[in-house]
Amino acid sequence: MQATDIIIKKRDKKELTREEINFFIHGFTVGDIPDYKASAWAMAIMLNGMTDREVTDLTLAMVNSGETLDMSQLVGISVDKHSTGGVGDKTSLVVLPIVAACGLPVAKMSGRGLGFSGGTLDKLESIPGFRTDLTPAEVKRQLREIGLVLTGQSKSLAPADGKLYALRDVTGTVPSIPLIASSIMSKKIAAGSQAIVLDVKIGLGAFMKDLPSARKLGNLMTRIGELAGRKVVVFLSDMNQPLGNAIGNSLEVQEAIASLQGKGPADLMEHCKVLSAQMLFMGEIFDDVDEANKMIDIAIKDGSALNKFSELIQAQGGDASYIDNPEKFPKAQYVEDVPAFENGYLATINARLFGEASVLLGAGRKAKGDPIDHSVGIVVHKKVGDNIHRGDCLYTIYANDKSNLMESKKYLEFAVEVEKEKVDPLPLFYE
Ligand code: URA
Repeated sequence: MQATDIIIKKRDKKELTREEINFFIHGFTVGDIPDYKASAWAMAIMLNGMTDREVTDLTLAMVNSGETLDMSQLVGISVDKHSTGGVGDKTSLVVLPIVAACGLPVAKMSGRGLGFSGGTLDKLESIPGFRTDLTPAEVKRQLREIGLVLTGQSKSLAPADGKLYALRDVTGTVPSIPLIASSIMSKKIAAGSQAIVLDVKIGLGAFMKDLPSARKLGNLMTRIGELAGRKVVVFLSDMNQPLGNAIGNSLEVQEAIASLQGKGPADLMEHCKVLSAQMLFMGEIFDDVDEANKMIDIAIKDGSALNKFSELIQAQGGDASYIDNPEKFPKAQYVEDVPAFENGYLATINARLFGEASVLLGAGRKAKGDPIDHSVGIVVHKKVGDNIHRGDCLYTIYANDKSNLMESKKYLEFAVEVEKEKVDPLPLFYE
């Protein structure tokens, strides 16, 4: 079998066999198939799609590229969540400490930034010392000791996804239903999750632009999960405007800390509570969502959710003093407010353009392995539907390079639209 023949077969819109998919994923994982062939293959999949059978085989091949964790001795029901990616989506940083503080242990395998969308691992690495490459033994030990783990793909856990993910980030091959579904579900199955809450984002700043494609992705991941014997619940949520206010790594960590103190933006707080309650319900910690909601409020109020976040940071080698003193996060050199030029109602705050502008500032990667500037990004101050007055600060740009600042300002010139007529706020969830 030859990798090139498998690329050609997919280029020519033909269905790959399980053996061909296994061969390609194994060869790529061990380094026999180089990045350029894997990128061409990913592009062929992106353009020509895969049947559900191919996606399931791809998912299982990626699971089998490493070890599979068995959490059954450590947790009653192991529950996890995953978002399909968006702008300002720091949900995992808030939800996981909350559910762990409410008595549900979680070990989550997250990802890095993908295209214009941020990644949980990059965000956490803005805390000095934080490690995201735990071994399976470390994952289990930490889950037993503190009930919370947030790690990444590694040589032993979903390594094929780790490698393919880094290529997709910089080769225009992110917004593909087969590639997203297999990437997410391989991580969830490898991490031993028995129940999975999926947050499928829709809109300008999401990889799924409309409800039908989001439903298709959600249904496909549900079927893959069920085939692997997992329970899956899918939320379809809005990503036309950024979630919360902050976009960019350490800015988002600071907003997550504020949210764990009960002081986060209303949309982010509400979103995180809904997902947390669902996880606690699926983990059978509470019999109903109302009971879970009460406990979530208590965990935020009494500081136990924030303490759990500190424990997580410390357990993975990070400097937890940043959690108590967020002012320790390095500040960007240039901070510039951008005002509104007219009165009216905010109609659009284009999440995709804001995500791309933050990549321009250095918050994401332009090439594989690029370093990230953790302190740059954008904080938006208004939401769709808000009444705007001329001179109000719409957003603040944080930059470390003057030309990047100018470029991102220019990039965002048409990212905000204000209308004279009243505009309805966007929903948080569609389904
Ligand atoms: N999250 C993932 O883990 N993979 C994707 O492809 C998109 C979002």
